[in-house]
This record gives sequence, C-alpha cells and structure tokens, in this order.
Amino acid sequence: MAKKIMIDCDVGVDDALALILAFHSPELKVEAVTGVNGNVPIEMVFTNIQKVLSLIKPKKKPLIAKGADRPLMGQPLYAHSVHGKSGLGEATIEMEEGQEWWKSFAGSADQLITRFAYQFPGELTLIAIGPLTNLALAILRDPKGFKKLKEIVIMGGAVRANGNVTPFAEFNIFSDPLAAKMVLKSGLPMTLVPLDVTHQVCLTPSLIEERIMPMNNPFSEFTIDAIGYDVQSRRFRRETDFIYLHDPLAVGVVIKQDLVKKERLSLDIETEEGDHFGQILKTEGTPNIEVCLEVDSKGFLDLFLTKLG
Ligand code: RIB
Ligand code: CA
Repeated sequence: MAKKIMIDCDVGVDDALALILAFHSPELKVEAVTGVNGNVPIEMVFTNIQKVLSLIKPKKKPLIAKGADRPLMGQPLYAHSVHGKSGLGEATIEMEEGQEWWKSFAGSADQLITRFAYQFPGELTLIAIGPLTNLALAILRDPKGFKKLKEIVIMGGAVRANGNVTPFAEFNIFSDPLAAKMVLKSGLPMTLVPLDVTHQVCLTPSLIEERIMPMNNPFSEFTIDAIGYDVQSRRFRRETDFIYLHDPLAVGVVIKQDLVKKERLSLDIETEEGDHFGQILKTEGTPNIEVCLEVDSKGFLDLFLTKLG
C-alpha cells in the first residue's frame, strides 16, 4: 500500500530533484505539493512547482497551494547564489499553454495541510524540505487538524555537523527558527534529516559522467542543467565540486527507512538573535524527534539514480 504524502517545498534545485524522486516512487502517493518562501520568493517557488510537475506529468494530478511569502518574524532570506536566478539553476522548462499537471487549491498551503490531515486522519506523512513557516501557520490556525497528520519528516538543521548559513545554523531552520521551534513542540512523530547525513549524499562529476549522462532522458538532462554541470569543461559552473542531495534524501528516508540510522533526541531551536540564531539545540527534555545521524550513502545514491533513470 503506497504511503500517502504531502511535500512542502521551496523549489530550488534539490527540491525539484526530490519531487522527481517522489513522483517516480510507487512506494509513495503524492497527494499535494505546497510552496513556501525559501530558496527563492514564493511566486517563483510556485511557478517552479508547476514547471517541475509539467516535466514529471504525474498520472494523478496533485493538489498544489501557495504558502507563506516570508518567515513568521524577520525578513525573507533567499539563496539565489545556490539555486540561480530562477531557482532551477540553468534548467529551463517550457510549460504547454493550458496544460495543467496539477489541481489548484483555492486556499493557502497551511489550509491544504490541515484539510488533508482531516481527510486522511493518521495516514498522511508531511515531508517538509523548505523553511517550516507553512507548518507553523497550520499549527497556529488549526492545531487540532495539524495533529491528525501521521508524521512529519523535515530536511533541516545540523546536529553534530556545521551549519551552511552560519557555522551553527542550516538554511531551512535559519530562515524561520520560530516556526521550527513551534513544529518541534507540536508533539507529532517527527524525523529530522539534518546536514549530518545530507552532506554525505552528493552528486560528483564522476557520478554525473558515469551514471547520469548516459541516461539521456528528460529528467537526467534537467538534472544536469539544474545543478549547473558543464559537460564540456566536465565541472560545475558554480564554484563547487559537488551538489548535495539534501531534499531528495528526506524523500528517500520515507521510501526506505533502513537507509538511515536514527537516534531519539530532545531538540530545541535557538531563536535569540546572535551567533547561534537558528541553531539546533540538544536539551535534557523528553525526546521529541528521531534524528538521522548515519546514512547508507551508496544505497541512497543507487536508489536516487535508479529512479532518475
Ligand atoms: O540547507 C539545505 C536546504 O536549504 C535544502 O532544502 C535546500 O533546498 C534549501 O532549502
Ligand atoms: Ca529546499
């Protein structure tokens, strides 16, 4: 029986790869995709969700909804340097006029989250791969509805690893630490997929040359353009030697639990301004989340590349 899931994302490059993986995994049934301000502004995130769905052409069209255009507090923080001007790197997807590979939901993302939680009580896994603003808004507006979710899987944070925005904080949490703090306190079964494991799953030039380029399909070509790999010079256009598959791993963990080793920890978030703003804090309280601290990198990369092919 396929797992019913919703994906809350800030389509960026690795979010797009996570969507491609999710829709090509018979283990999952993607009921909805919601957008949140993060890597790029919300309007661009929402357009990118539609573009990636136009590439995927899902048999069963998911509902899509637009969410928060800024964090609960403070200003939006974008990551165009990583995801490019459009949020999809160097990839371009032409959408056919009038052909919609989605069903539009009239309300906001947080309303769609609780709507589906009521519709499938205790059955819905919410995979959050952007800042957690939409989840926090759902908790604020309808805490009872939010609690009907089965579980939440979050790509975010850095527990023993360094951060990627500051030495202590990871982008999704740093973008809205107050939201992250609220989600951690929600009491739902939660799994955290932090940089500790996502920094162990990356696409390198040799993997691209040996495994992705020979695939010659629309998804492999999209991947090469989106991650900005230059096939002539055989290296990335951006100053980097590899691309981390942060968001695809959060989907991978839902497809195949044994890809990771988890530890139950009690975590909180630093929401005070200062050097540690947005840091994940281990506390003495009751454990509130399963944290992935080890990953079978080869196993995940095989799964990802097999589905991409
Ligand atoms: O820190 C990595 C996370 O931030 C990923 O979800 C990436 O898409 C960005 O949102
Ligand atoms: Ca993301």
